[in-house]
Amino acid sequence: MGDADVTDSDGGQEVSGRDTAAGPEGETEPARPESEFQPRRLADALFGCRFSRPLVVDSIGSTNTALYELARSGEAEGLVLVAEEQSAGRGRLDRSWVSPKGKSVLASFLVRAGIDPSLAGLLNAAAGLAVREAVEAEAGVSVGLKWPNDLVWEEKKLGGILTESGVDRAGQRFWVVGIGLNVNWGRSDFPHEIAETASSILLASGSVVDRTALLAGIAVSLDRLVGKLESDPGSLLEAYKAALTTLGRRVRARLVGDVVEGVAEDIDDKGDLVIATEAGECRRITAGDITELRTP
Ligand code: BTN
Repeated sequence: MGDADVTDSDGGQEVSGRDTAAGPEGETEPARPESEFQPRRLADALFGCRFSRPLVVDSIGSTNTALYELARSGEAEGLVLVAEEQSAGRGRLDRSWVSPKGKSVLASFLVRAGIDPSLAGLLNAAAGLAVREAVEAEAGVSVGLKWPNDLVWEEKKLGGILTESGVDRAGQRFWVVGIGLNVNWGRSDFPHEIAETASSILLASGSVVDRTALLAGIAVSLDRLVGKLESDPGSLLEAYKAALTTLGRRVRARLVGDVVEGVAEDIDDKGDLVIATEAGECRRITAGDITELRTP
C-alpha cells in the first residue's frame, strides 16, 4: 500500500460548521436536530477508547484528505474526523465518493499503532470487520466484506474503506482509515449510475438508523480490532476470511494493463488476494477491482 499523494488535493482546506463536543466549561452546545450526528453523545460513548476525540463538521472536502494533513503536522492518534457532507469525497483508484448530506457515515480515523508496515493491508480488514459488527448490533443487517474494501449486502455496495498511510514531519508513520457507509439513504437518494449496484442500511433493514450510535459502535470495534492487529494478526486474518464474500468464488481482477481470472483461493498474511487461474498459476493481487463472477 503506497503513501497517499495529497499534494494536488484540497489539503489544508477550511472546515465549515465546526461543532465539537469539547467546549469551555459551562458553554452550552447548540442543539442539533436528532437526525444529525450528536457530538457530545459520540464523545461520551468513545470515552476510554483509542478513538476518543471525535470532531464533527457540517461540510468538508474530504475527511481523509483533511485528517491526512493534520497527521502530517503531528496530530496524535485518536482523532476521528466526521462530516455530514463531503464536497470532494474520494474512493479507491482515484474515484470520487458522493453521498447525500446527513444520511451516511463519512468518517476518518487516525491510527498510529505499532503495526508492522507489511501488515498494513490488514487495516482494511479491521475496518471492514468493525463496520460489520456495528451494523449487525445497531441495525440487525449482516454486512459482507468483498475484497479488498467493499461493504456489501445482497451483492450491492453499502460502503467502502479507503486506508492511506504517510509519514509525519517527525518521521513517524501513521494511517488514515476512511469509512464511507450509506446509512439512511432512501431510494431517491441514489444517483442513476449506482441505483442498481448500491444499497443502504435503511433499505436493507427497513428502519432509520441512529448514526451516532452506529459510528460509536464502529469506533469501539475498530479500537479492539486494531489492538488485535498489533498483538495477534493471525486471528484477525481468520475473522476477515470468514466474513469475505469473495473466497471460493470465480473472480475477475482488473489490474493496470492486466486482467486475471480464476478462483479466489485465499488471503495471504499481508491481506493480498490469492487467485488460482485455469492455467494453474497462483497470482497474488495487492490492489485492484474485483468482479465476483456467477458460476455458469
Ligand atoms: C471505496 O469504496 O472506493 C472507498 C470509499 C471511501 C469513502 C470514505 S468517506 C470518508 C473518507 N473520506 C473520503 O474522502 N473517503 C473516505
